[in-house]
Amino acid sequence: MRSHLCGNINEKLDGQNVTLCGWVARARDLGGLIFIGLRDHTGVIQVVVEPDNKPAFAVAEKLRNEFCVRVSGKVRMRPESQWNADMSTGKVELLATEVELLNASAPIPLLMSEEDGEEVRLRYRYLDLRRERMQRNLRLRARLNSAIRHYLEGHDFVDTETPVLTKATPEGARDYLVPSRVHPGSFFALPQSPQIFKQLLMMAGLDRYYQIARCFRDEDLRADRQPEFTQLDLEMSFAEESDVQAIAEGMIRHVFREVLKVELPGPFPRMSYADAISRFGSDKPDLRIPLELVTICDAVRQVEFKVFSEPANDPACRVAALRVPGGASLSRKQIDGYTELVARHGARGLAWMKVNDRAAGVEGVQSPVAKFLDAGSIESILQTTGAKTGDILFFGAGPKPTVAAFLGALRLAVGRDFELVEDRWRPLWVVDFPMFEYDADDQRYYALHHPFTAPAVADADALRADPANALSRGYDLVLNGSEIGGGSIRIHDSSLQQAVFDLLGIAEDEAKMRFGFLLEALRYGCPPHGGIAFGIDRVAALMAGEDSIREVIAFPKTTTAACPLTGAPAAVDQDQLDELRLRLGKTS
Ligand code: AMO
Ligand code: AMP
Repeated sequence: MRSHLCGNINEKLDGQNVTLCGWVARARDLGGLIFIGLRDHTGVIQVVVEPDNKPAFAVAEKLRNEFCVRVSGKVRMRPESQWNADMSTGKVELLATEVELLNASAPIPLLMSEEDGEEVRLRYRYLDLRRERMQRNLRLRARLNSAIRHYLEGHDFVDTETPVLTKATPEGARDYLVPSRVHPGSFFALPQSPQIFKQLLMMAGLDRYYQIARCFRDEDLRADRQPEFTQLDLEMSFAEESDVQAIAEGMIRHVFREVLKVELPGPFPRMSYADAISRFGSDKPDLRIPLELVTICDAVRQVEFKVFSEPANDPACRVAALRVPGGASLSRKQIDGYTELVARHGARGLAWMKVNDRAAGVEGVQSPVAKFLDAGSIESILQTTGAKTGDILFFGAGPKPTVAAFLGALRLAVGRDFELVEDRWRPLWVVDFPMFEYDADDQRYYALHHPFTAPAVADADALRADPANALSRGYDLVLNGSEIGGGSIRIHDSSLQQAVFDLLGIAEDEAKMRFGFLLEALRYGCPPHGGIAFGIDRVAALMAGEDSIREVIAFPKTTTAACPLTGAPAAVDQDQLDELRLRLGKTS
């Protein structure tokens, strides 16, 4: 139907006849001449329709935004004064000889601009996706997938599909369940990841597996979380941490080179989980922000101010400072804003100290808590933090995880507000994770990765002896403050696997019921193996410069896990329920 694409029309085609198809991006009637912006996925070209061309003009007069048309005509140069440097087609226009209406459009229910709200964008997603930015994002994602496949296939990974109707997989979220008609009262679970199947494929001798796999997790949604999302999932036999990390790092480097023409700095640095939490207040530190948390326990151990001295003397607690260069200029109101922010992350307050004149020592500081501190402690705080004139110090005191959470959040906020976020890529391996996390409310351990992650201890006895301090063989890949991938070396020994289940409070009969098939498979010469999975949505969003993964998913769900376009989830017929032998309880 067409000879060219809109965005490819340029001065090289001056004088040529072309036929284009697309949508009307704008139509203007300028005293006789009609100008149409004709758009397809490659760009917009200006079409001119002259009144002398009566049949074409008659069609053009009726055109409205998003009408679908075919235009034939001759490419000609625009007068130099009308060149538009922002458009690839900006030096030329198409003088129409023929305008054919392929399909009219009802009035467009959204602005098709950045001003549209998310609900309306998702309701009319097929229109929203016509926009240049969304076209760019979807195409970038396709190139990302293609580059991933190319790299992994070049390294002998075998693309293998695993079931979507399956049994619960423990990744820590709630399962989506699918009732079975054939087996009334029984349910499939949609996989939270292909974890167990990829391990079985290693036991099956596949050696190297990969899959671009859809995963389903019923969890609270955020900008970087969707109920169904896509993983690049891989697993390798006879592999240790360094083998998996080398492949993962090589792949990420390759896709950045292929898709963005970006050479990532290398080799990716490594940081222990403990360091990440203590220095950045996060297990996914954004290294583009040059601020760190500094422990000041020694400086405040003796002070009368109990908010500081009590946690400073408690090994489970911590007093830390975040030094913000230039922060002394913050107003009371701005500081109150940060106090509200940290309160949302569990802080009881946010003590601060402005350094108005470092040379003046204690006289040069301004702080609501200065009166509770002695001169020696203040001097010691200033020294420990390396404070300079013009800085502000924010203080966090309390249980270590709480202080990390709220000062970590504060670090990100001031990093953004003070425009300290460097414009570059900062990848980071986070390693040496604890094996377990103790939940004081539930009085039990949870796996920090998942229950199949191998501990970094000699054997099951060593693990049982000190589970609280055991590290795992897990690793995460973090990029610019986003956890883009996570994986581990797995347990390949059934007794160690059983010991981990025990510590997680999964009794032997429950383990047998849930994962009996895996425990059994582990008994038949399972090779040592490990792997990793990347969140493709997150990688694509980072590459596209988008804050939300919804911008790189064709048909995402809202933050309340619904699809405004299709209306899913929706009620079903009574017949369907009967067939599944389901009866609904009260829904409100
Ligand atoms: P994990 O649970 O860390 O590991 O998931 C791997 C990566 O998937 C992405 N991700 C998500 N992306 C969007 N929405 C979500 N709801 C969501 N949840 C996770 C993240 C994360 O790093 N089976 C293990 C991998 C392994 O051990 O090999 C797993 O699923 O980028
Ligand atoms: P209070 O004694 O609760 O009035 O607190 C005195 C000062 O210490 C106030 O500026 C509070 O914001 C601050 N503050 C209180 N609790 C903490 C805490 N856990 N971490 C940091 N600052 C705190």
